[in-house]
This record gives sequence, structure tokens and C-alpha cells, in this order.
Amino acid sequence: MTFLFKSEARRGEVWRTRLQREFPNLEFRVWPDVGDPLKVKYVACWTPPADLGKKFPNLELVFSVGAGVDQIDLSALPSGVKLLRMTEAGLAAGMSEYGTLAVLAAHRNLPAYLDLQRTRAWKQLPAVTAKDRSVGVMGLGVLGAGLLESLRPFGFRLHGWSRSSKVIEGVSTFAGPDELAPFLSRIDILVCLLPLTDETRGILNSKTFDALSNGACVINVGRGAHLVEKDLLDALASNKLRCAILDVANTEPLPADHPFWTHPKVILTPHVASVTDAEGGAEFVVANLRRHFANEALTGVVDMSRGY
Ligand code: NAP
Ligand code: GLV
Repeated sequence: MTFLFKSEARRGEVWRTRLQREFPNLEFRVWPDVGDPLKVKYVACWTPPADLGKKFPNLELVFSVGAGVDQIDLSALPSGVKLLRMTEAGLAAGMSEYGTLAVLAAHRNLPAYLDLQRTRAWKQLPAVTAKDRSVGVMGLGVLGAGLLESLRPFGFRLHGWSRSSKVIEGVSTFAGPDELAPFLSRIDILVCLLPLTDETRGILNSKTFDALSNGACVINVGRGAHLVEKDLLDALASNKLRCAILDVANTEPLPADHPFWTHPKVILTPHVASVTDAEGGAEFVVANLRRHFANEALTGVVDMSRGY
């Protein structure tokens, strides 16, 4: 049987070594060198090859090399094939670093100070203490819950919103569409860590921004399509929002003429908030293949009906 890898070459070499050590009878192949398609039972990819089911009729598992699976057309996966999203610890660690960096940057007015530096202006802006700032995280999964944990020592008022109710010590939690407005009404710094689904597409829009505190900041580390970019530009222009820190964009790479590149209130990074660690990713796959061979429950299985 074959494990087919379709992702970065450097990560592939780490996975090949680890999987061959663990499963000597598993043939490790790198796309497009698939060998006998009938032998392909496992595929790891960011985007799968087209016609996956037809090409590999004996496919059992598809591993997303990232936490998100919105890049994969779930309806095109053959029924009976399980899709697993990546939940290795390095992803959460990276997101906690980036999210904390971004929340502190928003809290301490970094976008405005960077802009003042560009104009050689030595100007002190009013400071707000962390205990007087409300940070809200949309999405309380592996990454959102991890970020809230990292933010705890700073003393912010912490809030979180998810689909189903959660209890997280020291965090006011809200759930479902009915509790979105009460969640937003408290927030000075909003972080989006939702998966991209039909329900969450465009959720960072003018209605959401209007519900936040005046002068709030928005941090998008989910997906570009969570954000209605025109609504963000309008909210920054009207000073409803003070700043935005964006790691993702609707079109990646961001087009050269896009207003975000030079916007004085926007800090932009090229989808680097967290990246799957090669070793951690290999361990995740090994652990799940072991479970699969032992007929045990797998971790990170995507619920096709929810889309994440
Ligand atoms: P996860 O563990 O599946 O958590 C998703 C969270 O979002 C859950 O708490 C879920 O609620 C909530 N949610 C989903 N749909 C919702 C809805 N309609 N309304 C309210 N809450 C909803 O995912 P994760 O591992 O934390 O990753 C989250 C996302 O981060 C990924 O999908 C990806 O898009 C993004 N990401 C970005 C980067 C980057 O570098 N920028 C890196 C990795 C991941 P329940 O708990 O009730 O199910
Ligand atoms: C990156 O964006 C991921 O989903 O892992």
C-alpha cells in the first residue's frame, strides 16, 4: 500500500523518513509519481489531485497538511474516505505566538506608532491598561482556545465565541448566531480564528464592525474570505476601527495594487501566523495511521456536514 505525499519537498523528506521507520511496508511516494494507483490508500496534501476518487479507488484517508480544509472541495471526496485536518502542537504554538504578538501590537498602538515613525513624528498616544481592554476570539477550537490561554497572563478581559457552548476559565463565552451581537458589543480587539465555511464566509463585515467598541482593532488569522475588505477599508476610514492586523487575504499573494499594502492603519503578513511543523506533522500522521490500523478512533476527523 502507498502513502502519497503532495506538499513541500522539505516536509516530504521528514515525513518519508518518519513513516518508513514506523511502517516499513508502506510505500512513500511523492506526487506526481503515484506508482500503481490501486495501491494508494493514504494521501497527504494541501489541495488534493483532481478526481481523487476515480484516480485512487482504494483511498481510505486524506490528511490535510494544514489546520484548515476550506481549500479542499469536500463534496468531491468519495464517501467513506475520511478527511483529517492537522492538529499537531506546533501549529497551536505558532498561532499563540502570532496572536499574542498581534493583540499586544493592537493594544499598544503599534500600527499608529509605525505610521508616526514614517513621518518622523515623536508623539505619545493615550495608553489604556490591559485590564480595561476586552479581547474577543471568534473560534474556540484548538487554535482559538490556545491563544486565549497565552493571553491570560496579560490581564485582558477575555471573551470567546464558538458554535457550541464552552466553559473556559477566565473567559466569558458566547455561542451561536444569537449570542454573536452580545459577544461583539464588548470587544476592543477582535481576533478571527474561525474555519472558513458557508456560515463564516464574510463574517468580518460592516455589521460586525459596527457592533464593536469605537476604535476597535480587527485581527484576521483565519482566512481571507472571512473579511469583506471594502467594509474594513470603510470602517478604518471612518475611524470606527483603529487598526487591522491581517495575516490572510482574499487573493493570496495580495495583488501589487491592493490598498492594504500601504494602508497606514494596516499591518500585513503573508499567511505565516502558524505553519505545520514538519516533525510534529509526521508524528500526527504516524499516530493516526497506527490508530487506523488498530481500528481505533482517529483525531482531527473533519465533520463533512459542518465543513470543519
Ligand atoms: P477548530 O479546532 O476546528 O476550531 C474551530 C472553532 O470555530 C470551533 O470552536 C468552532 O465551534 C468554531 N466555529 C466553527 N464554525 C462556527 C460558526 N458558524 N459560528 C461560531 N463558531 C464557529 O479549528 P482550529 O484548528 O482552531 O483552526 C481554525 C482556523 O484557523 C482554520 O480553519 C484555519 O482557517 C485557520 N488557520 C490559519 C492559519 C494561519 O497561518 N493564518 C494557520 C492555521 C489555521 P465549536 O467548537 O462549537 O465546533
Ligand atoms: C494554515 O493556514 C492552515 O490552515 O494550517
